[in-house]
Amino acid sequence: MSTRSLWHWANAYKMSAAIFALEEVGALAAMAAAPRSIEELSWLDADALAPLLTMLLHAGLLSCEDGRYSLVGGSLLPLLAHERRVRSRFSQEVIVARLRGQGGSDPMDAPGAEARWPEYHAAMSVSARSIAPHVVRVTRLRRGEHVIDLGGADGALFAALKHLVPGIRGTVVDRPSAAPHWRAVEDARFVGLDLRALDGDLLADADVVLLSNVLHLFNAADRGVMMKKILDHVRPGARAVVYDVFVSRGVADAGLFMVLDWMLCGHRFDLTAEQMASELVSLGWSNPVTHIVPTLPGAFVSALKPASGATP
Ligand SMILES: C[S@@+](CC[C@H](N)C(=O)[O-])C[C@H]1O[C@@H](n2cnc3c(N)ncnc32)[C@H](O)[C@@H]1O
Repeated sequence: MSTRSLWHWANAYKMSAAIFALEEVGALAAMAAAPRSIEELSWLDADALAPLLTMLLHAGLLSCEDGRYSLVGGSLLPLLAHERRVRSRFSQEVIVARLRGQGGSDPMDAPGAEARWPEYHAAMSVSARSIAPHVVRVTRLRRGEHVIDLGGADGALFAALKHLVPGIRGTVVDRPSAAPHWRAVEDARFVGLDLRALDGDLLADADVVLLSNVLHLFNAADRGVMMKKILDHVRPGARAVVYDVFVSRGVADAGLFMVLDWMLCGHRFDLTAEQMASELVSLGWSNPVTHIVPTLPGAFVSALKPASGATP
């Protein structure tokens, strides 16, 4: 590693601040909608704007033709807006505290978290809409099948699936405190319980068990117990699909940065998708497949319960 790259990364927080600022003032949305010149972003100070656009251009986040800038990756803007609003939870101080073995808990489980649920669900439902078509493809979801969505929040993901595959049934499981936010989707019910105390009987009728953006909230032991319990109680041929942000070894990408989010929530979750697949196989799941979708922040890992007698 060179001194130059240490200096580069130590200064990279300025790039994040620039991106959030441009999002806050509406410049990113404007450049996502149509190519814009500095003059056309007329509500902003041109001398402040120009160097910021140059930074984003040189980082490959904007393209520029005939003096007009376009945003690459505009579909992630709602997620980015959410990240801007919650980024204050990140500071050097909280990371120092974790390094000293202090702190670390899911902010959505903290006293007073109710006030944050609406904002949280709004962000989750944007994510749910973008991942739903891929869940359908990965699971080959069919009419009449029963989907159990563990950590399914207000039902946004199940609602998006139902929109794509009418005729599916759903059981959405989340913390009891999520019950008031349940959006009452047709052919679906909400079950409020702690996933660490998952009821095996609940799983018996499942064709597909989903865990979307959930496993990073558990430690490795609880994760293993939960995935084994699912395997033991679903019928042969049932599919499990995990969607989460996995890391790519040797690459300092956003997936690696998100490991800090999970760390602040209390747990270490820095698996590659392939390691997740191996973990499922070691528990007795079969046919593991990893599905990388370049436009999504996370990736899917799917597996199958083998025919009776095939479980180790
Ligand atoms: C990041 S959200 C993901 C929501 C949704 N699955 C999605 O992908 O948009 C994590 C969800 O898991 C739920 N959750 C976390 N820990 C839980 C637990 N121990 N028992 C039940 N639900 C839990 C949270 O309440 C929250 O709704």
